[in-house]
Amino acid sequence: MPASAIITSALPYANGEIHLGHIASTYLPADIFTRFLRLKGVEAYHICASDDFGTPILIKAEKEGKKPEDYVAHWNRRDAEDFAAAGISFDLFYRTSSPENVKFVQDVFKKLKQNDHIYEHDVVQFYCEFDDKFLPDRYVVGKCPFCGADNQYSDLCEKCGRVPDEILEPKCAICGRPPVKKQSTHYFFKLSNFSQELKKWLSENARLQTDVKNYVINWINEGLQDWDITRDLSWGVPIPLDEAKGKVFYGWFDNHLCYISTAAKLIEEKGGDGKKFWNGSDIYHFIGKDIVYHHYLFLPAMRMGINREYKLPDYIPTRGHLMLQNQKISKSRNWYIGLRDFVSVFNPDYLRFYMASIVTYSQDDLNFDFDAFAEKINNELIANVGNFVNRALSFTQKSFAGRVPEAGTLAQDDSEIKDAVAAAVKETGELLSANETDRALRRILALSNQLNQYFQKKKPWSEKDTAAATLYVAVNAARSLAILLAPFIPFSAEKMWSQLGLQGSVHKQSWDSAGQFAILAGHALGRVEPLFKKLEAKEIEEQKAKLGRK
Ligand code: MF3
Ligand code: ZN
Repeated sequence: MPASAIITSALPYANGEIHLGHIASTYLPADIFTRFLRLKGVEAYHICASDDFGTPILIKAEKEGKKPEDYVAHWNRRDAEDFAAAGISFDLFYRTSSPENVKFVQDVFKKLKQNDHIYEHDVVQFYCEFDDKFLPDRYVVGKCPFCGADNQYSDLCEKCGRVPDEILEPKCAICGRPPVKKQSTHYFFKLSNFSQELKKWLSENARLQTDVKNYVINWINEGLQDWDITRDLSWGVPIPLDEAKGKVFYGWFDNHLCYISTAAKLIEEKGGDGKKFWNGSDIYHFIGKDIVYHHYLFLPAMRMGINREYKLPDYIPTRGHLMLQNQKISKSRNWYIGLRDFVSVFNPDYLRFYMASIVTYSQDDLNFDFDAFAEKINNELIANVGNFVNRALSFTQKSFAGRVPEAGTLAQDDSEIKDAVAAAVKETGELLSANETDRALRRILALSNQLNQYFQKKKPWSEKDTAAATLYVAVNAARSLAILLAPFIPFSAEKMWSQLGLQGSVHKQSWDSAGQFAILAGHALGRVEPLFKKLEAKEIEEQKAKLGRK
């Protein structure tokens, strides 16, 4: 375990709501991981920000007749609220347009320039005469020169994941007309300067996922293109040079630097030294697989270009995309579920529990399925975990007036449970450290299953002689379950904690203490009630029917 860690989640664009797709690949795995590290006593901070700059955002703001500053402020607030409602906890949710980030980006640019990694180059850019606009990136669509896929954005091919140098058969994405070309002077980052260093870093870093590394190394072998980092636009970080008036940085130049500037702000607010803390911590960047190119090439190369003044990531956990009912998520077809809508209908812990159970530590795509969701919740969260905790607590309530009984000498099957809990805590901890979120959850469910069998076999309702020992063991095991589940279902784990009559918050406990039986005889339970409510077929059908409807 590191002493300290900075965990970042990819920054959401400030132009639309957070949906289930975001949660599955990035925010939930990052949140579970951070919560686990905190329980392990690691000084861990989860950092995020709204990604405020760029053409699509400016155009949307204009459409709504708003100043871009106000437009992004709205989404920044809204995202922060939605994340909080789903239990995604950030130590700081800031913004790429913050004064701290603007200054940091400009400083990094100056250093890159001093170090000879930046050059000027005249580019002929697409310009739509009908819309009277330069057309950067997303505003030109065409055919990918690498794989031939049609209808791809000029800055990223979604089919093959590469960033094309020049898209074929270009069209203006606003009006569909072919654009003309106009000349403009841009700054370029010499990504090609770093080919060897990047390759070395990728091949030597065993903590990065092998399958991702392999295709990134392939891209390097094909030859890296230098990178145009400027745009003829008003909305972005201004380029700090007199000759570059009216130009700003490309959003992908400034956004990932916001990981650093935001972490530094947080640490400095706590009275620490941002750079020192960064360099003394394990760095994790959680992402979805669509932004591999930026995080495995641009991001490390830029840090190399300023002589690794800020260390490179130790881990870049990369996960696949979410499908909905086996179809691609699409906002325009309304095949899509907003996070806010979902957690206003369903317990946010239900979402977390189901998502955590399907998300693997790989680039495989995931599938959200409503029937599987209901089944998981009813048969595993409720029938397994909820059932055990509720039975342990209510029997103690009924038979021992809510006080944990004196166990006496533990029989062999009681001690076996004690050992099983300790083993589960250790193994789940190892799986979570390795980012194997779904496997960790399965390990906890296997323990819970064993606890149910134990309870069923010991029959504390009829076996009066052993009931005290059984309930002592069961209540303690329920406490362990609350700690183990705290990263996954934070709201329900907190409820378990208070029903157990324990002080403080479950999130402030130590993970390792879950391996011990810390509740003593005589301890008084809190108010005991069912933790969960079963999902009904009717409410599931209602939600299914909403999909795809306008
Ligand atoms: N806004 C980008 C996206 O949604 C992600 C930016 S992550 C960053 O694809 F690190 F680069 F900021
Ligand atoms: Zn046009």
